[in-house]
Amino acid sequence: MDRLEGKVALITGAAGGIGEAAARLFVEHGAFVVIADVKDELGDQVVASIGPDRCSYKHCDVTDEKQVEETVVYTLDKYGTLDIVYSNAGILGQLSGVLNVDMKALEKIMDVNVCGSVAMIKHSGRAMVARNIRGTIICTASAGATRGGLGPEGYTASKHALLGVVRSASQELGMYGIRVNCVSPLGVATQMACTIPWIKEFRLDPDFIEQHMSSVSNLKGMVLKAKHIAEAALFLASDESACINGHNLVVDGGFPDSTDTFPASVTKSAIEFMGWLITKFVPRYICGLFRQNVESTDSKHRL
Ligand SMILES: NC(=O)c1ccc[n+]([C@@H]2O[C@H](COP(=O)([O-])OP(=O)(O)OC[C@H]3O[C@@H](n4cnc5c(N)ncnc54)[C@H](O)[C@@H]3O)[C@@H](O)[C@H]2O)c1
Repeated sequence: MDRLEGKVALITGAAGGIGEAAARLFVEHGAFVVIADVKDELGDQVVASIGPDRCSYKHCDVTDEKQVEETVVYTLDKYGTLDIVYSNAGILGQLSGVLNVDMKALEKIMDVNVCGSVAMIKHSGRAMVARNIRGTIICTASAGATRGGLGPEGYTASKHALLGVVRSASQELGMYGIRVNCVSPLGVATQMACTIPWIKEFRLDPDFIEQHMSSVSNLKGMVLKAKHIAEAALFLASDESACINGHNLVVDGGFPDSTDTFPASVTKSAIEFMGWLITKFVPRYICGLFRQNVESTDSKHRL
């Protein structure tokens, strides 16, 4: 458990989901971690549960370049170096196809998913080059970074763009011995995957997301969890991947080619979800009715 012994890592979007899982795993493997996010309360809770002797929280909105630069400086000041950057913060954005895309929402998703990572690569790369650190930078792209139709228009575009950023940065920073790679998950039942952006109060049940994702994956008997993505990031962060640069490590259990495309796939998923709700709750409801019936008959008999 010492694959990152003494290394210093900065992880964005680490107050929850995949980033949090990576922070826990990196610390388990000996790293000191800066958890950067916009959700301060959750970030503080993650630090408290991991242990403030091994990690700390820094507010960082990745769409604000100044905050990104300050977070890099904070990490260097606090831990003396910066070996690993995991640029993981991301949003799903508007759930719409190209015919209904909202240009402001498109700008926002590009801002977080693409510009945020570019800013992080820029400032952490500068710090590494200036200090002669042969660091490693990892971004979270997506299975939707290399294929269309897996997600909404803006999200797919942003993750394709991010893959381009990783590939070009890996060539440029490779000259300094700095590696830049990405991990590309399929659906993981995090806050993002369970949220429907325009219905704030409603959360899809994580069990449904997991069941749906494992049913479409080639690899049977396996449910993709945030920890599996964190393990892929750990590999890219460690010296075990010392010669891997500009790589897109897809973690999807082997996803078959599909003819389903967004947004038609949403309708299909909604139908599946209704079916799932029915199989989960209707038998319970009927059993409840039956039990109530039996109880009221029993009490009548007792009278
Ligand atoms: N969950 C999935 O199915 C899935 C699939 C493919 C790729 N991804 C990618 O994985 C990454 C992590 O997502 P997750 O599934 O853990 O979702 P999540 O919503 O649980 O975590 C995302 C984190 O990013 C933070 N964040 C959002 N905007 C930010 C900003 N401007 N500055 C700083 N932090 C910000 C959020 O506060 C949150 O803590 C994202 O880049 C996402 O696109 C997720």
